[in-house]
Amino acid sequence: MLFLQISLLVVLLGGGDSEDAFPDQILRAIGTLSLHNHSWTHSWGSGWLGELQIKRWKSNSGGFVSLRPWSNGNFSNKEMKEIEVFVQRSHNEFLHLLHNHASEWMLEYPFEVQCIVGCELHSGESQASLLGICLSGSGLLSFQNNTWVPSPEGGTRAQQVCRLFNQYTFTNQVILRNLRDTCPRYLLSALDAGKADLQRQVKPEAWLSTHPNPGPDHLLLVCHVSGFYPKPISVMWMQGEQAQQGSQLSDILPNADGTWYLRVFLDVEATETSGLSCQVTHSSLEDQDIILYLDRPNSKGWIILAVMLPLLLLLTGLACWLKKCWTHCESPPTLLPLERFQRSRDSTHT
Ligand SMILES: *[C@@H]1O[C@H](CO)[C@@H](O)[C@H](O)[C@H]1NC(C)=O
Ligand SMILES: *[C@@H]1O[C@H](CO)[C@@H](O)[C@H](O)[C@H]1NC(C)=O
Ligand SMILES: *[C@@H]1O[C@H](CO)[C@@H](O)[C@H](O)[C@H]1NC(C)=O
Repeated sequence: MLFLQISLLVVLLGGGDSEDAFPDQILRAIGTLSLHNHSWTHSWGSGWLGELQIKRWKSNSGGFVSLRPWSNGNFSNKEMKEIEVFVQRSHNEFLHLLHNHASEWMLEYPFEVQCIVGCELHSGESQASLLGICLSGSGLLSFQNNTWVPSPEGGTRAQQVCRLFNQYTFTNQVILRNLRDTCPRYLLSALDAGKADLQRQVKPEAWLSTHPNPGPDHLLLVCHVSGFYPKPISVMWMQGEQAQQGSQLSDILPNADGTWYLRVFLDVEATETSGLSCQVTHSSLEDQDIILYLDRPNSKGWIILAVMLPLLLLLTGLACWLKKCWTHCESPPTLLPLERFQRSRDSTHT
């Protein structure tokens, strides 16, 4: 335990200072079994470190696919293989049980079963594990302290499944060991191996678009923010300093490169757009928020100035040059001899 805490401390010290510094300390695997009929099943699986997918489960042949170079943490290939075998065997046995007891448990084909399994580390002190099974999206059982417990919404079916599952004491002990030992050990080593990737900061790009909105004279303003990492972000439509309560956030969607994408909508009257801006706050920007103005109040003035200033300088230059030339022309040296000539002629005449 002490060893675990020391390792954890190292991980935590590598992080930041706010509670957002620990968003990745959850390891989850999610499996979905789709049972079409007694002989036809399809399964999917994925493994997640925080919000980052690091593993995929090959549905036919079994086995993990690593999605990051560090996805195995410091586990050897042998240890990874043992986990794969355990997962594959559990999957097959579970499927077998579901098919065999389908009529007893009143499961009608087609149906879907989801499993979630994982572990979580809390700021250096404790760890928690989770293992739960859902039936078509609603809770069925969870595994707590070596015992399967029925979910209240699972009804008598959940109690029947629990009774059966609790008879497999040896399997349950292996599950408990994996949850309490293997999972946190893997989580810590993956956090360490993937540190550079997990703690990277990628700045967002933001742009605005406007769309006519159904309803008379309404506009839908959209602030797009893309390519940021990590996931926590704040994006708001503002009127001066005032956050617009009508702002609506889309889901935060993944980009293919592991960064995130988000849109924030604001429905406004077409005449009420002046002074609106979109403000983006993200850890990668430090304190330099991105602020995009929909219709920057002085933007026309700035454009005019930007075009006029060089022109003005050019004209001033031209004027100076002309003026210089003019003063030169007023007293050209060629006039002097004539003047002198005239003066001398005058003097000779007198
Ligand atoms: C099971 O479902 C699959 C896919 O829908 C179908 O191709 C197959 O014929 C079905 N088998 C039986 C025994 O109904
Ligand atoms: C788990 O079991 C242990 C001893 O068997 C007990 O001390 C502990 O309180 C239990 N935890 C929960 C959450 O039930
Ligand atoms: C694997 O990583 C964990 C956590 O970072 C560490 O405690 C452990 O000593 C490492 N094991 C090996 C064999 O390097």
